[in-house]
Amino acid sequence: MSHDPVLDIAGLSVAFGSLKALSDVSLSVAAGERLALLGHNGAGKSTLFKAVLGFLKPEAGRISVAGAAPGTAAARRTVSYLPEAIAFPRALTGAEVITYFAKLKGEPPAKAKALLQTVGIADAAHRRVGTYSKGMRQRLGLAQALIGRPSLLLLDEPTSGLDPISRGEFYGLIDTIAAEGAAVLLSSHSLTEVEARTDRIAILVKGRRVAEGRLADLASAAALPTVVRVKAKAIDGATLQARLGGRRLNGRSVEFDCTPGDKLALLARIASHSDIVADVEVSPPHLDDVYRYYSGLGAAGEAA
Ligand SMILES: Nc1ncnc2c1ncn2[C@@H]1O[C@H](COP(=O)(O)OP(=O)(O)O)[C@@H](O)[C@H]1O
Ligand SMILES: [Mg+2]
Repeated sequence: MSHDPVLDIAGLSVAFGSLKALSDVSLSVAAGERLALLGHNGAGKSTLFKAVLGFLKPEAGRISVAGAAPGTAAARRTVSYLPEAIAFPRALTGAEVITYFAKLKGEPPAKAKALLQTVGIADAAHRRVGTYSKGMRQRLGLAQALIGRPSLLLLDEPTSGLDPISRGEFYGLIDTIAAEGAAVLLSSHSLTEVEARTDRIAILVKGRRVAEGRLADLASAAALPTVVRVKAKAIDGATLQARLGGRRLNGRSVEFDCTPGDKLALLARIASHSDIVADVEVSPPHLDDVYRYYSGLGAAGEAA
């Protein structure tokens, strides 16, 4: 098996008139890997997918889909796509929708219909799509994208609007698909959502890739502080602050920012004032803070 990336993008720039939707973006996805593309609305996520599909012509850069150029017959055999907010004809049944897409792709409809089982909606195969829940429609969309065993799956905000349980189940399906060897590139606007469900993340801000890597590495590179909050016993916050320092909160609490390395020493110092300390709360940096950190970096870079 080759270790070349299934998708390889280098220096990609795409413009709509004077608007630079993507500027010098590079990323790659290997077989069996799940990469999450994160960004706010308008960051350029859908544009990137469309460029990979060959729908948009880049201003600059190179895209390789299993060694082929986007839009060529070889690339189209490799890649499949679940568009953002896909709508299927409501009057058709799930089985009819799948049959239709199988014929479009020149694949046997019977094999395609078995995919309804894979995505867990076989029971609803003969119900009209109009009666499906949002989660069921997304599963149907995924079944459609799996026709013909693509080696690269592009999923544009596949879980937006799903409840947490359906979302978890949807990521479970993606895990299985990747474990079988497909490269998966999916977009989302929530870092919390893709935590533990993807191998790497890339963050886009205004068309620029501001971060790329494993989430744990990005979080530690951001070096965000752990917040330690101390609550006083019967005294007021001012007395507590006079003894310990820190930032004053309302009423009876003070707060400290500390690095992972300083945490134990700080806790020891707090413990030495146990006569006035009622409680201590330690909050490690939140994923949303990590996302905000990199998004902020991108916006600052833009302003400079
Ligand atoms: N066909 C188009 N013509 C002009 N501008 C577009 C077109 N498609 C997208 N854009 C603009 O490009 C930027 C990136 O859009 P998009 O890729 O859809 O972002 P995302 O999917 O991250 O929300 C936005 O500013 C958007 O308005
Ligand atoms: Mg989009």
